[in-house]
Amino acid sequence: MESLTLKSHLPPDFLADALRADVSAGLTGSPKSLPPKWFYDERGSILFEQITRLEEYYPTRAEREILVARAAEVAALTGAVTLVELGSGSGDKTRLLIEALRAAGTLRTYVPMDVSPSALLESGRLLVRDHPGLVVNAVMADFEHQLGVLPVGERRLTAFLGGTVGNLEPGPRAVFLADLRASTAPGDWLLLGTDLVKDPAVLVPAYDDRKGITARFNKNVLDVVNRELRADFDRDAFEHVALWDPEAEWIEMRLRSTRDQKVRVDGLDLVVPFSAGEEMRTEVSAKFRPDGIRAELAAAGFAVRGSWTDEAGRFLVTLSEAR
Ligand code: SAH
Ligand code: TRP
Repeated sequence: MESLTLKSHLPPDFLADALRADVSAGLTGSPKSLPPKWFYDERGSILFEQITRLEEYYPTRAEREILVARAAEVAALTGAVTLVELGSGSGDKTRLLIEALRAAGTLRTYVPMDVSPSALLESGRLLVRDHPGLVVNAVMADFEHQLGVLPVGERRLTAFLGGTVGNLEPGPRAVFLADLRASTAPGDWLLLGTDLVKDPAVLVPAYDDRKGITARFNKNVLDVVNRELRADFDRDAFEHVALWDPEAEWIEMRLRSTRDQKVRVDGLDLVVPFSAGEEMRTEVSAKFRPDGIRAELAAAGFAVRGSWTDEAGRFLVTLSEAR
């Protein structure tokens, strides 16, 4: 039996159409913005992997520490037969969960969902190689709009790691969590990784590292727009900005125009003027408090059954059950 499948649920013109709509709205709005989903082309996915290994970027290490300590407990509590993962990326930390669930003898199928086919294929190949008998059904789809394509029926655990839920703003996040609850059965499980509010002196460098990898990642979105929509953004005419918003409790990523300039986006028949110093938002990364997470989960219909931080209290992993 073939144990690795990759199925695309994205419409064939997803990249062109959805990107077009997003970029057109973002570049004609005020202030300007570009949507974060588009960071992760093949090069973006590689740059993100480099970010996870940066000294300043603690979330990946903190979350891994929690999973090392708690994966067996999660396996025992959930007895999951199907493991779904949203925004799975390299699936590196997920191995800890897969190994614990395999050791417990319950896991049969792993369903990673991502918009990046390169990440899905690479991680899927490694997993079936290392876990004979594990079925990997990789799904290329958008977790904000296509949760309906996920399998239902067999004691499901959905993992959403890396703090990616914080890349959704509060309104869309509430909608997303409610949709996720609606796509699972009562008794199914959610394992959610969230970064915690902390000193901005620690937070900001995690999104503005000394080597400039995060800056390169942020500017990669300009290359994606250049390529897909025939635009002529000059990467060197924009600067990476990361700042902490103490009211919203999120890190905001921006690109700042270094001069007055006009950018042509031929694919949209658009000319976009930027003034010197003008900033365009590319991403938010919300930071959470344990009570806030519990409340957001409860509002969506999930009851918390376990929550764990790393030794230093930087990151939180919460296990909840659909009511
Ligand atoms: N879970 C991994 C990767 C986090 S990076 C970790 O913890 O390290 C975020 C991942 O989510 C990327 O792989 C990106 O391609 C994916 N992603 C972003 N927006 C998405 C969307 N709307 N639907 C599906 N995947 C998405
Ligand atoms: N989910 C990651 C986070 O919020 C994504 C991320 C890390 C990111 N560094 C970034 C997104 C820099 C944009 C820019 O931590």
